[in-house]
Amino acid sequence: MTDVAAGLTTTKAPFIEQARCDGRLYIEQPYALYSEENHEAWRRLYARIAPRWRRYAHPRFLEGIDQLAFDPDRIPRLEDVNRFLEPLSGFSARAVSGYVPAYAFFESLRNRAFPTTITIRESTRLDYLPEPDIFHDVAGHVPMHTDRVFADVLVRFGEVARNAAEMTAEITDADVRIHRVESIIKAMARFFWFTVEFGLMHTADGLRVYGSGLLSSFGELEHCIESPDVQRYPFQLEWVVNQYFEIDHYQPLLFIVDSFDHLYGQVDLLDEWVRAGRLDNVSPGEPNVNEADLRSFLDALT
Ligand SMILES: [Fe+2]
Repeated sequence: MTDVAAGLTTTKAPFIEQARCDGRLYIEQPYALYSEENHEAWRRLYARIAPRWRRYAHPRFLEGIDQLAFDPDRIPRLEDVNRFLEPLSGFSARAVSGYVPAYAFFESLRNRAFPTTITIRESTRLDYLPEPDIFHDVAGHVPMHTDRVFADVLVRFGEVARNAAEMTAEITDADVRIHRVESIIKAMARFFWFTVEFGLMHTADGLRVYGSGLLSSFGELEHCIESPDVQRYPFQLEWVVNQYFEIDHYQPLLFIVDSFDHLYGQVDLLDEWVRAGRLDNVSPGEPNVNEADLRSFLDALT
């Protein structure tokens, strides 16, 4: 029996534990399980950050928020979100029970499905949490998926991953293959981090935020634009793929793109670099490539 009163709170949801125990990664969103405290966490997060979105978020994000018609007081149902989202870009939000290994994640993007956490943080701990939750995934990411070019960027990422898996599958020396796959995963994770999660963009009104890690963080959303402590540089692929990052504090270094078309062009270039072997030995350091990520690429074509 699932305990309805237990809710769907991050790290404390029996429903999620059971799904993981059963080996079910893709799940339904059991909407009735959300507790009033869960909805209260959404309400507080939304009310607190909305004024900052209007000030710092990219205009396409704000349009996306309108197009998806979120209820500021209740956690969204993914089926409602998808009803608005799919006609716009073909993307949908797909509920998952936990971490999606790197290749499966990129492959899901290639198929225009965004793996989405359905739990929510505790209402008394609104600020930092290391795990993604539905506020990060749905309020932070999904509004960007209403933009066709941005959606195509995500699909292109999926294609880069597939090309990388195909190229490295031909390497006969196991150690060389593992080293190259690890390096390419690291480079892709860094690119993703400094764009989809923490990207800034020039707009007619000045610097605006399109990265979801920033868009779902009340504190960092203002800090990333206003603070003199943040270094902000034009996006440079050779720098980004070699730049390590840490996830547990505000980012000291961010990269700026000119447009979504510019961003798309950089993912194209990333693909060229995979093919040319330029990501085979990137600078070591964070992020760590875990065993599941590595395996997912090594076994991608089997
Ligand atoms: Fe994210």
